[in-house]
Amino acid sequence: MQIGTHVLPNRLFVAPMAGVTDRPFRVLCKKLGAGHAVSEMVTSQPHLYASLKTSRRANHEGEPAPIAVQIAGVEPRQMAEAARYNIERGAQIIDINMGCPAKKVCNVFAGSALMQNEALALDIVDAVVQAAAPVPVTLKMRTGWCQGEKNALAIAQGAQARGVALIAIHGRTREQGYGGEAEYDTIAAVKRALRIPVVANGDIDSPEKAAFVFRKTGADALMIGRAAQGRPWIFGDIAHFLAHGTHRAPPRVLDAQQWLTEHLDDHYRLYGELTGTRSARKHIGWTLKQLPGGEDFRREMNLLDTSSQQLRRLAEWFGELARRHERLPLLPQPASVPLTA
Ligand SMILES: Cc1cc2nc3c(=O)[nH]c(=O)nc-3n(C[C@H](O)[C@H](O)[C@H](O)COP(=O)(O)O)c2cc1C
Repeated sequence: MQIGTHVLPNRLFVAPMAGVTDRPFRVLCKKLGAGHAVSEMVTSQPHLYASLKTSRRANHEGEPAPIAVQIAGVEPRQMAEAARYNIERGAQIIDINMGCPAKKVCNVFAGSALMQNEALALDIVDAVVQAAAPVPVTLKMRTGWCQGEKNALAIAQGAQARGVALIAIHGRTREQGYGGEAEYDTIAAVKRALRIPVVANGDIDSPEKAAFVFRKTGADALMIGRAAQGRPWIFGDIAHFLAHGTHRAPPRVLDAQQWLTEHLDDHYRLYGELTGTRSARKHIGWTLKQLPGGEDFRREMNLLDTSSQQLRRLAEWFGELARRHERLPLLPQPASVPLTA
């Protein structure tokens, strides 16, 4: 599996998720088996480049290559400029966001709303590919704007003709938001028609589902978002299942504790004490909710407001869990992980 000249270690990607896949989380997922990670989207509006949020999103310190940065916007020239700006700051792959249905993005006609205007969408692709060369450009999109207008194939073919190196498709339309179920027929049709790699995304939340989506779509790689929240070892679980046809044991309690602690340390360093302690709660909560007694403990953790308190109580709780269990006693997961943002 290759993007431009970058050879990836495997075919399992972590999906870009604003507010989740920051640098600490990407580093964690790559360490635990993700072959590729794309940053949260960064704006293409130059007056926002210097904002704290954008500069944190552009932070790649210590992240294993290739560094992929997702840009969002509606102006071909601004998007081209954003590609150059991020490449100067270390991006080795530029990803165009045509998949995000978030209001903030779509109100300015970016994200998946762009799929409604194929000409503009392809003008953006053209401008970004030319500005980024020789850095490869990837594209993330949905199956279309609405049920009646599933134009992923037309946009994908246009993007391929303009030099895009890889296309990732979330199997839902913009209209669907995150409702209903992802469908994979459209992704399969795009895969059959293209020669560049196609990545399937949407509702992949178990090794069996991953194997199913590979079979159903013929995709070159899979992209996993919500199911990796609190379960970053899912990439390794899926890789094991694809290689051996069996499930590997859940992580050892002490390993999971160490991963979480290292992740939180990195998180506090990036966001600082105040913001970091607050934004760490969601990662802590996702980890705990899959463990017996985790829901009560999550509520207690949400009342703590320093990083040292969070780390101390987590060490006590996991220490107690490790006395009773060698491996994480994971609760059965719901079939699909509900949307949390
Ligand atoms: C909290 C959250 C934030 C997201 N932010 C982005 C984003 O910044 N860019 C993007 O292309 N997609 C974004 N997405 C969409 C995901 O990349 C992915 O396409 C979607 O969640 C479906 O995959 P999943 O079922 O594996 O979660 C986001 C999704 C979630 C849940």
